[in-house]
Amino acid sequence: MTNSPFNIDAIRRDFPSLDQHVHGQPLVYLDSAATSQKPLPVIQCITDYYSGANANVHRGSHSLTASATNRFEAARQTVADFIGASVNGIVWTRGATEALNLIAQSYARQMLKEGDEILISEMEHHANIVPWQIVAEQTGAKIVKWPLDPTRCQLDMSVFDSLLTSRTKLVAVAHISNVTGTRNPVETVIEKAHALGAVVVVDGAQAVVHESVNVEKMDADFYVFSGHKLFAPAGIGALYGKPDILEKMPPWHGGGKMVDNVSFEGTTYTTSPAKFEAGTPNVAGALALAEAINWFNSIDRNGAEQHVASLQAELVEGIRNIEDLSIIGLQQGASVVAFHIDGVHHSDIATLLDQQGIAVRSGQHCAHPLMDALGINGCVRVSIAIYNTSDDIKRCVSAIQKACDLL
Ligand code: ALA
Repeated sequence: MTNSPFNIDAIRRDFPSLDQHVHGQPLVYLDSAATSQKPLPVIQCITDYYSGANANVHRGSHSLTASATNRFEAARQTVADFIGASVNGIVWTRGATEALNLIAQSYARQMLKEGDEILISEMEHHANIVPWQIVAEQTGAKIVKWPLDPTRCQLDMSVFDSLLTSRTKLVAVAHISNVTGTRNPVETVIEKAHALGAVVVVDGAQAVVHESVNVEKMDADFYVFSGHKLFAPAGIGALYGKPDILEKMPPWHGGGKMVDNVSFEGTTYTTSPAKFEAGTPNVAGALALAEAINWFNSIDRNGAEQHVASLQAELVEGIRNIEDLSIIGLQQGASVVAFHIDGVHHSDIATLLDQQGIAVRSGQHCAHPLMDALGINGCVRVSIAIYNTSDDIKRCVSAIQKACDLL
């Protein structure tokens, strides 16, 4: 199917939340790496579900539950197709964070023993660090940091080669950094890790909205993402695991619908993915995530990617000569630009931008080790999505200039 060429006006019409004022100024939303705004079909999907289709799934046999169950499982297929996975490799989670904790507690906790190593890149979001620290404490495994080159904000494969050993049992790496937009060479990481028998967990939270992902071609053992950065609501996400690995993992949470038989003498568990989905799931969230994916697939993805890249270039051009402003690890073509200004606190800049109607994120971006590696206490991150316009960028540039003049 060929989609119509990328049309920013049509895209924006789908996002009612963009049409509002903040501090008396039209909103410029440049915080989509924190969470994206939601298009009308996704909002409508949630309303429709609760207006006339709400029922529990995989329980009972009345018509509403049968229909909800069919739609819930069709949504799983949509997610699987979206990332090139087989459907039995997709487990619903609340988001990327829960998925990473599930892998840590159900997979790594069983498999790791004292002296084993978990190799983690220094640019990870806390969600891809802390669950591994918890499991390292539980098992006696050791965390090994894969340092980045702070001047380029990139990970060096020769450093990886020197840290990857037969003791490495698990490698945790982001597909794309949430702070700088650095795209990591996950394919090479996976190939090298597999050669030494280590499994690789890829955090795809920032990547799925920026490139076509195929987890089977990539050969990732685990891949996680959240719906809320992909035009879907918060509280829904997916864990992909190779089906043969998932099948061997014990359940994480116990409860209804993850069992074969329960008695006081003992319980037997059902197969994956249901084994990992105890309790009533977020049915509306799953349907809305599938709707978001269908909406996203219906637009010209190449055109959208070029649109975002050209806005990023325009932003960089606009701010690069501002006195004392340093862009952190600029990645051409990424959707984010992180910067700091000598002598000015990042939150002061963000506050002054907010007063001009511009929403950006400031702080450490849940990446304290990255901030330490860069020798900064935080930064401002402007993150661009397909619904932003050149006018948004012009207003952002002039607001940053104005904030600098004031501070
Ligand atoms: N992980 C999200 C961010 O980068 C919240 O802002």
